Amino acid sequence: MLSLQGRDQEYFVTYIIAFDLTIMKTEFKPIELDLEAGKTYLWCQCGRSKNQPFCDNSHIGTGISPKVFTVNISRKMWLCVCKKTKNVPYCDGSHLK
Ligand code: FES
Repeated sequence: MLSLQGRDQEYFVTYIIAFDLTIMKTEFKPIELDLEAGKTYLWCQCGRSKNQPFCDNSHIGTGISPKVFTVNISRKMWLCVCKKTKNVPYCDGSHLK
């Protein structure tokens, strides 16, 4: 078992927190997708879907529902995966905070 004290322990804890944040920022970065005009999309709001950023029905039983959305013009858009965006379903940079 690892036994650290004082500044070594402080340094180790800081390193682990920084490492976790790096993983989170990578894992939850937005996904750029070609969205088609008129098509209906279901954006996962619960974070459980294995098909991010879209719903795969893993929310069943959570009380959370997917966000249904369409686009008027076919174009590339960055969709939020971290679920912290204030502009659902689009990325607003919240994953970086
Ligand atoms: S799986 Fe997350 S909202 Fe459906």
